[in-house]
Amino acid sequence: MDTYLYLQQKKARLEAALRSFLMGEDSAIFTAMRYAVFSGGKRFRPLLLLTSGDYFGLAEEILLPYACAIELIHNYSLVHDDLPAMDNDDTRRGQPTCHKKFGEAVAILAGDGLLSLAFEILLAAPWPPGGPGLKEEVCRQVALAVGPAGLIAGQWLDLSFQPEETDLAAYERLAQKKTAGLIRVSVASGARLAGTDSAQIAALEAYGTNLGLAWQLRDDLEDIFQDESTTGFRPNLARVLGAQKAREQVNRWLEQAVEALKKAEINSGPLEYFAHQLEFKAEKES
Ligand code: IPE
Ligand code: IPE
Ligand code: MG
Repeated sequence: MDTYLYLQQKKARLEAALRSFLMGEDSAIFTAMRYAVFSGGKRFRPLLLLTSGDYFGLAEEILLPYACAIELIHNYSLVHDDLPAMDNDDTRRGQPTCHKKFGEAVAILAGDGLLSLAFEILLAAPWPPGGPGLKEEVCRQVALAVGPAGLIAGQWLDLSFQPEETDLAAYERLAQKKTAGLIRVSVASGARLAGTDSAQIAALEAYGTNLGLAWQLRDDLEDIFQDESTTGFRPNLARVLGAQKAREQVNRWLEQAVEALKKAEINSGPLEYFAHQLEFKAEKES
């Protein structure tokens, strides 16, 4: 099947599953949670999980709750990231941010709600055929990736960084925790649930880390073409390197991502497709 169609179909089933977890409750907080989740996210992380689980032969109905939990965690992180005390952003996905629409208190609670609902969904998720141990390990890895030594540590590094400190190594440390950790655990979780061996999981983790670094640098590249007063002074390697060098770095990380798959003989068209979609093809300077 055509990869684009394959992913579109997965995305449609994911949207339906997300709705099943978020509909039915009527409150100011649930309304804000739905606003945050159903505002046009690309669903990159859950699609990685569904794709890797499928590649290793696990049925989609088992994978879907795990994929939804990951997407809720991602959306919680964005709601809180946009708050005045964090990046202080007024818009996300072309619409008012959650706190602009509903006020800060509701946005904070909606973020908390998304995070705790995600772990409730994980707890209720079915065991894979390999047994409860696999599920437990996936939940533990997700918690580690988004916890105070993972995403939260990355957000703090982001907030406490001085712009002039931004070199490649420092940026990698930050982006690994802030962004690449959740992307890495997404792609690894699908395989882990399928009972895949540790060498292949390690390869998927290397793929996910490199893809995640590229994802963040691409996002930062977009920011440098915006007015600095609206993007603040967040550490931004794209600004330090310049657009051309930053694009080359994105492509280097993507090559390493694909290389990790190849070395482990993981021949997944959709996983390669994600990397190729993020690649800069032309070397034109803007
Ligand atoms: C935005 O992530 C934040 C970053 C980690 C760069 P996405 O680009 O995946 O956001 P949505 O969910 O598709 O809007
Ligand atoms: C988003 O990071 C938050 C996390 C990755 C946890 P950024 O601040 O870099 O992304 P945008 O630009 O707000 O989407
Ligand atoms: Mg931000």
